[in-house]
Amino acid sequence: MTTLTTETPPAPANIAAATVPADRESSSGIAESTPRSGLVEIAGVHKSYGAHEVLHDITLRIEPGQVVTLLGPSGSGKSTLLRAINHLETIDAGSITIDDEFIGYERRGGRLHELAEKHVLQRRTRVGMVFQNFNLFPHLTALENIIEAPIGLKRATRAQAIERARELLARVGLADRESHYPRQLSGGQQQRVAIARALALDPDVLLFDEPTSALDPELVGEVLSVIRDLAHGGTTLVIVTHEIGFAAEVADHVVFLDAGRIVESGPPEQVLRAPEQARTQEFLDWVI
Ligand SMILES: Nc1ncnc2c1ncn2[C@@H]1O[C@H](COP(=O)(O)OP(=O)(O)OP(=O)(O)O)[C@@H](O)[C@H]1O
Ligand SMILES: [Mg+2]
Repeated sequence: MTTLTTETPPAPANIAAATVPADRESSSGIAESTPRSGLVEIAGVHKSYGAHEVLHDITLRIEPGQVVTLLGPSGSGKSTLLRAINHLETIDAGSITIDDEFIGYERRGGRLHELAEKHVLQRRTRVGMVFQNFNLFPHLTALENIIEAPIGLKRATRAQAIERARELLARVGLADRESHYPRQLSGGQQQRVAIARALALDPDVLLFDEPTSALDPELVGEVLSVIRDLAHGGTTLVIVTHEIGFAAEVADHVVFLDAGRIVESGPPEQVLRAPEQARTQEFLDWVI
């Protein structure tokens, strides 16, 4: 087991700027009967590859059920940050917790110790991930792709997993495609199966890394529409996207990264329509 060099992250100066406001339901006064899960707290995170620092003092608090979009130029660290949230990537300093729990570490004697892979896998199931290139198992049908993890992790019997997979396929508009293999599905359909697969473990947090960027333009809409349906449905969503219009529409909070730093962060109407930083405006001029 390795010990992380930092014990407790320093209180970062930009925490207020990068704090997502309380979610819409609670602020509108609707009482919540059960405590919600899916709080993501990223504090003082640093990550380097050799001498190249790719994440610099990233601090971001994402409330349960919030929708956050990460924007930024190529190489700005978006994927690295996303992957660090579910411990697909280790960090050099700082901390990332989901509902106060580390995915890849446990605190013992005031220090963080990296967990064994099997414990990481268990905890990582709280975080679903959807990749740019779908990452479906090519030798499994749509339905088999979805039931694989719930059965493998003994979360459900085969019959229960199949029932739930059918519900999820219907939810993403693919009820009639359960026996199709990935090669028999369009890119948009494959991505919708990937979303259904990510939902099969009932994650508290769903991460999307450019979910539509590998798709032909005419297939983008069907995938965005599925993500739109998930937004504000209780699951915390963190979405890396270059679809600025979509970000403006669904996000509670937009974070603009450049060279591994949070340059600007706030509600979409501020960051996307009236950015304070010249670098943000420059990026928006380039992508829009
Ligand atoms: N395994 C790795 N080894 C070395 N450098 C890496 C590794 N992974 C990423 N990087 C570097 O870290 C930086 C951030 O990469 P990252 O993939 O997070 O960027 P990104 O914002 O997702 O970019 P894109 O929009 O192109 O996907 C880049 O300079 C990249 O080259
Ligand atoms: Mg990326």
